[in-house]
Amino acid sequence: MSQEVTLPQFHRWLLLYADRIIEQEAQLTELDTAIGDADHGINMRRGMEKVRERLESPENHCEDIRTLLRAVAMTLISAVGGAAGPLYGTFFLRAATVPEGGQSVDLAGLTRMFRYGLDGLQQRGKAHLNDKTMIDAIQPAVEAMEAAVASNQSLAVALASARQAAKLGMKHTMHISANKGRASYLGPRSIGYQDPGATSAYYLFETAAETLGTDSVPQRAIAASVAEKGR
Ligand SMILES: Nc1ncnc2c1ncn2[C@@H]1O[C@H](COP(=O)(O)OP(=O)(O)OP(=O)(O)O)[C@@H](O)[C@H]1O
Ligand SMILES: [Mg+2]
Repeated sequence: MSQEVTLPQFHRWLLLYADRIIEQEAQLTELDTAIGDADHGINMRRGMEKVRERLESPENHCEDIRTLLRAVAMTLISAVGGAAGPLYGTFFLRAATVPEGGQSVDLAGLTRMFRYGLDGLQQRGKAHLNDKTMIDAIQPAVEAMEAAVASNQSLAVALASARQAAKLGMKHTMHISANKGRASYLGPRSIGYQDPGATSAYYLFETAAETLGTDSVPQRAIAASVAEKGR
């Protein structure tokens, strides 16, 4: 039986991502203070607060996963200054162009969504692996999911592998020199600092593993209520 990620799970994922970014604003700002212009935390917090407002407002209800991803993309593009807003916006906008993405998607569809997002991001930002950007977290995560699909792994295993790959990629940015964005002005002096965008991108996969890789809420609620009745 193929496991599916549902629209309510996508909704929970994006709200949790917003919370995580808001919680980590100071860390993201601190990282961008070292090698950039100290605004990544502020940019991302502002954008994700708008995303949260949009997702929580009943009049902006999204009827399917594609529409939800597009709403997130448009909000980020319009609300976030700096490089990261349009880049994350492009990721979500391109993810929304997969043929799957109605009320639910299976692991192969979810993986394709992330692949489309990554390809769009790379076309827009022209960054490659080891340029010390968000790509260093996102690309290994997408590749880990593709490997999981190829070897018939479960959704939970695929997302756990993606989280781990994104974490290693994020940590690896500490040891390389920046070739894109403001950090590239520092050249080799950017070595020794973790990239802020790779860090916010890691949280995308961390929160995906926490929400999309678990059972859906109704199933868990049913299990809990059965356990309660059995007491
Ligand atoms: N061309 C690019 N492709 C992918 N990611 C990029 C690119 N340029 C910058 N980034 C990511 O954006 C992050 C910085 O985002 P921020 O919100 O601080 O915007 P910014 O200050 O305008 O960025 P920058 O000055 O680095 O272009 C970097 O840490 C890096 O991960
Ligand atoms: Mg910045």
